[in-house]
Amino acid sequence: MTDSLTVRDNRTGQEYDVPIVDGTIRAADLGKIKATEETPGLAVYDPGFVNTASCRSAVTYIDGEKGILEYRGYPIEQLAEKSNFLEVAYLLINGTLPSKAEYDAWVHEITYHTFVHENVKSFMEGFRYDAHPMGMLMASVGALSTFYPDARNISDADNRHMQMVRMIAKMPTLGAWSFRHAQGKPFVYPDNDLGYTANFLSMLFKMSEQKYEPDERLVKALDVLFILHADHEQNCSTNAVRSVGSSQVDPYSAVAAGVGALFGPLHGGANEAVLRMLRRIGSKENIPSFIDGVKNGNEKLMGFGHRVYKNYDPRAKIIKKSAEDVFEVTGTNPLLDIALELEKIALEDEYFVKRKLYPNVDFYSGLIYEAFQFPPEMFTVLFAIGRTPGWLAQWHELVQDKEQKIARPKQIYTGDRQLTFAPASERWR
Ligand code: ACO
Repeated sequence: MTDSLTVRDNRTGQEYDVPIVDGTIRAADLGKIKATEETPGLAVYDPGFVNTASCRSAVTYIDGEKGILEYRGYPIEQLAEKSNFLEVAYLLINGTLPSKAEYDAWVHEITYHTFVHENVKSFMEGFRYDAHPMGMLMASVGALSTFYPDARNISDADNRHMQMVRMIAKMPTLGAWSFRHAQGKPFVYPDNDLGYTANFLSMLFKMSEQKYEPDERLVKALDVLFILHADHEQNCSTNAVRSVGSSQVDPYSAVAAGVGALFGPLHGGANEAVLRMLRRIGSKENIPSFIDGVKNGNEKLMGFGHRVYKNYDPRAKIIKKSAEDVFEVTGTNPLLDIALELEKIALEDEYFVKRKLYPNVDFYSGLIYEAFQFPPEMFTVLFAIGRTPGWLAQWHELVQDKEQKIARPKQIYTGDRQLTFAPASERWR
């Protein structure tokens, strides 16, 4: 067996051998295939990068057929059960698990960078009273680049490390303040006695009490949700971070682009649609007629199906367990019973089995967020906080990858050519 592709160009009758490496061919090799010396080489048309690898990456592995997700080789199930979000963040960025000393130093650094400049607070207060928290988060992440102009020095390893620490540390502060602003509540400063996720809950929900003491079960559940969202290889927002980062801009500007991409309903918004669907179904008795509607093409079972996973999304299994833990504290959500029954029926139904439609990460996450009393606009902010180490790990990998260039896709031009311009004074006569 030869690892190459033989291509015959029927325009010229010429044959080309294109090497296959890691299951891919190099687009640049196709560029050598030309109809004439003067015409441009053959290119690949792939809107949405559906079948194009944009990088080599050692961060996250997904096998959608088997339902496998691994960060740096560690299965997501083990990390969710036995690790914590900051350790996972360290793993994603550095590539290996920390020693005790490395872990302690990492947690210490992040804990002591949670505060933001007072002027960040002032400009966040300047947003309209009903500003969407995700818009506030995107703007304030981008604004951090003006507070840390040294972040532009991306070729210095110590400098990169400092900006990544700052970004992970300040994300919950910015996220919590975006939430408090919409509620008209005063911003709560970080409490460095608390762990990462407990401190986030404190900044979200603390009122007049001296010290906010979150329920440990809720802290654990939210920490697990952050772990599950921490990376998912070359998704839309990660691709945005890499694309913007490829211009060698500072990491705050690159991550702000990622937050913007995540804001879109095709990326971060499906869990809200699940809640709306469950409310509309209303009770278990209505499930069979809803399923009939799905099969007739009149409805979509939100929270089911995935572009990559053609098996149970491994994150959905873990979230289901977290939902039970959260409801133990908050009391159950009647929508959970409908969700469980819906899942049971769908997993046995031929329509879903044949199409390999299984619950995805969003099927249960909205129910959990609602139990925490988050409004739907906050769901993507939570996603962004969890995804930050992944964005940074991918950015870090990009800036050290000698093979990477500024992202600049080709196009197929479909417009007019060589028109003759007449000035307005002649055209409008
Ligand atoms: N309900 C009913 N039928 C579905 C669903 C669904 N949720 N998802 C896919 N199908 C059907 C399609 O109609 C199609 O049927 P057909 O072969 O008879 O035409 C078949 O299954 C294949 O589906 P595609 O649309 O080709 O799958 P694709 O990979 O393009 O879509 C997507 C994936 C967008 C996630 C889709 O499954 C969907 O819309 N799901 C609901 C929305 C959702 O939960 N999104 C969250 C994804 S997870 C995340 O982004 C974090």
